[in-house]
Amino acid sequence: MKPYDVEACKILRRTVLGADCFDVMVLAPKLAPLARPGQFANILPRGKTLRRPISICGIGKDTLRFVFQVRGEGTKELAALSVGDTMDVFGPLGNGFPLDFPNLKIRRAAFVGGGIGTPPMLAAAAAFPGEKLAVLGFRTKAAVLLEEDFRALGCKVAVTTDDGSYGVHGLVTVPLSEESFDVCYACGPAPMLKAVAALCAQRKIPCYVSLEQRMACGVGACLGCATPLRWPDGTVHYGHVCKDGPVFSAADVVFS
Ligand SMILES: Cc1cc2nc3c(=O)[nH]c(=O)nc-3n(C[C@H](O)[C@H](O)[C@H](O)COP(=O)(O)OP(=O)(O)OC[C@H]3O[C@@H](n4cnc5c(N)ncnc54)[C@H](O)[C@@H]3O)c2cc1C
Ligand code: FES
Repeated sequence: MKPYDVEACKILRRTVLGADCFDVMVLAPKLAPLARPGQFANILPRGKTLRRPISICGIGKDTLRFVFQVRGEGTKELAALSVGDTMDVFGPLGNGFPLDFPNLKIRRAAFVGGGIGTPPMLAAAAAFPGEKLAVLGFRTKAAVLLEEDFRALGCKVAVTTDDGSYGVHGLVTVPLSEESFDVCYACGPAPMLKAVAALCAQRKIPCYVSLEQRMACGVGACLGCATPLRWPDGTVHYGHVCKDGPVFSAADVVFS
């Protein structure tokens, strides 16, 4: 069986989240059974030749959920689709989060999302069998995403905002540093990932980060998404975010 495929997915539900974010559930009987948390799909907006990478936010028996923000022409086109329309979805792509640690005592996991990096953390939290903590950081109250979805999964949730308009005033590392956990998963802006990785390294806790990079093919064929990584001996090499990632052990990532 191929690990990925293309499917014309019918939109079953479309919700507007705030000013510029859209929550879309599609029927994907071919792709959903292949999907793992942390993977993404390359979605083709109408009239475009390049697909746009969007993380998988939810995985059902025959459905996939995507939450995306309008950034430019491609995502604007995706946002214009209605219930009943079809989305051209190529996926699932990438490696996904490691959520099974059979030989380690991993009881409590922290899921850290920053802004539009939050959606893939929901799929990861849904699949984690142990106790879960979600720390979600946003610019301001109007940008807060998916808080209730994490609560519905039984997560303890802490929300931070940069301007203090909601939740804890400050960065995600403020509440994170007050919590204990055995493994950490994070997706969001690079400075946030760097700070979360440093906190985990200090505590010697495994940390996995999902990186974002401009992409084209999505399957390792075009070199469009190369990112510097570190071998255990410290030497630097380049990996593909689309094929080798988007999830990497934070210890392997060269943060600028
Ligand atoms: C693995 C992966 C998963 C992603 N998951 C999501 C998601 O779940 N939800 C979501 O809203 N967005 C996600 N993104 C970002 C999304 O792919 C881009 O916002 C989108 O491709 C922009 O396309 P556009 O045509 O609307 O904008 P463009 O006109 O192409 O660009 C508009 C703006 O968006 C920036 N941008 C474009 N591509 C990226 C990118 N790959 N990463 C960061 N910024 C970019 C550009 O620099 C520019 O400022 C993900 C990106 C990657 C690589
Ligand atoms: S997007 Fe083409 S190699 Fe990664």
